[in-house]
Amino acid sequence: MSALDVAATSRRADAAAVVRPARRLRGELRLPGDKSISHRALLLAALAAGESEILGAGDGADVRTTAALIARLGVGIERRAGDGRNVDYRVRSPGVDGLEEPDGILDCGNSGTSLRLLAGILAGLPVYAVLDGDDSLRRRPVARIIEPLRSMGAQLHARRNDSLPPLTVIGRTPLQPISWTTPVPSAQVKSAILLAGLRAAGTTTVREAVATRDHTERMLRARGVAVRRSEAGTADAPTAVGWSIEGGARVEPTTERVPGDVSAAAFWLVAAAIHPDAELVLRGVGVNPTRRAVVDLLRRMGARIEERPADEATPGQATAADLGGPVGEPTADLTARSSELRAIELSPADVAAAIDEIPILCLAATQAVGTTRIRGAGELRHKESDRIVGIAAGLRRLGADLEVEGDDIIIRGPTRLAGAVTDSLDDHRLAMTFAVAGLIARGETTVERPACAAISYPGFFDEIERVRA
Ligand code: S3P
Repeated sequence: MSALDVAATSRRADAAAVVRPARRLRGELRLPGDKSISHRALLLAALAAGESEILGAGDGADVRTTAALIARLGVGIERRAGDGRNVDYRVRSPGVDGLEEPDGILDCGNSGTSLRLLAGILAGLPVYAVLDGDDSLRRRPVARIIEPLRSMGAQLHARRNDSLPPLTVIGRTPLQPISWTTPVPSAQVKSAILLAGLRAAGTTTVREAVATRDHTERMLRARGVAVRRSEAGTADAPTAVGWSIEGGARVEPTTERVPGDVSAAAFWLVAAAIHPDAELVLRGVGVNPTRRAVVDLLRRMGARIEERPADEATPGQATAADLGGPVGEPTADLTARSSELRAIELSPADVAAAIDEIPILCLAATQAVGTTRIRGAGELRHKESDRIVGIAAGLRRLGADLEVEGDDIIIRGPTRLAGAVTDSLDDHRLAMTFAVAGLIARGETTVERPACAAISYPGFFDEIERVRA
């Protein structure tokens, strides 16, 4: 199969993609706009009365889903310039008090972020709404948002004893403020509570044992809303932090440029590190301290990654101490090269910090000298697939020496991988991990159900062909 056929196959009937080993990897890449930031930019634009602009939003299926969802609430969305990977949006909203009750079921597709964050918004509106999604989303837990939003006074119900979507939200204005400690680290849950907190009569506080991605906090501040951080450490959770927001704060419209997605960059950082003849340059990658763990973990493994702050800071706002903390999203250009990797141990806090990058880090571990232990990875079972099962099955097929003990993953390396048939389980991060493995595995690697890569990374298989050329 030729290079072009590979890309064509993945776009066609989602039959399978075949990836052959690359002699060398070279090139410069621009990534899709960060998925987490793109979702939030759209949702916050829906809350802000007036016109917002979002430049370089990721154009994957999940972000498109959020755009379609806010349109259902009566928000005007205009797709402007796009290049297949990124798109600029102009959003015109009547503001939070002008949002309309949706006239039918809200389809969140494959996107957990859309469902959970939107539920937080709907909880504080005088609406009845039903949120549903595809087969994967219908297997993902929602009790974690039902409980706090209910204790704020909204009514929420879900299938299987309030555990799985579809999710019904009957909102209420105003909500009661709460003080909530998240039982598992989750930026989605934290964000849902903070967004609901905007509609509460008083101060809402969310505490988390380890800090998760802080895009909602930064982006609210960039739109004029104070979000204050407090140390909330206890003997059990010394690193705990709290986030507080005042009900009734107004979200102002703004223009924001979305940085490149570090979770997408991770595939190329690992591809370069494990390939014997590689140099890949990644432009404008978001390196927010709460998202960049994958870069630092790979460096701990010995990956040669050079980092230079990028010219285009996003967005342009200065720090705003009176709003409670950092505002903008730092970006950098990253250059990754062939590396000699060594095994490391990942703690549960490392897992929380690199939650979306664990599959590709598992591939890196197969090429590292020694035994990599990833401890406390249970949350991976609640992603687009059970990622512990999916990554173990795929990497073992390729010859990896990997064991799962409860929620721990143990990988012994280095192993010489050999091409085989792998299954993405319709999970974008697994599809891309197995495709990257194909760049170094002997023979032919088949990725079944590859089209899901476009959930977060449209054009990923075309980029695979471009960097190997
Ligand atoms: C996300 C948070 C994480 C992550 C997901 C995006 C977000 O989920 O896995 O891909 O944008 O807030 P959890 O917060 O549920 O861990």
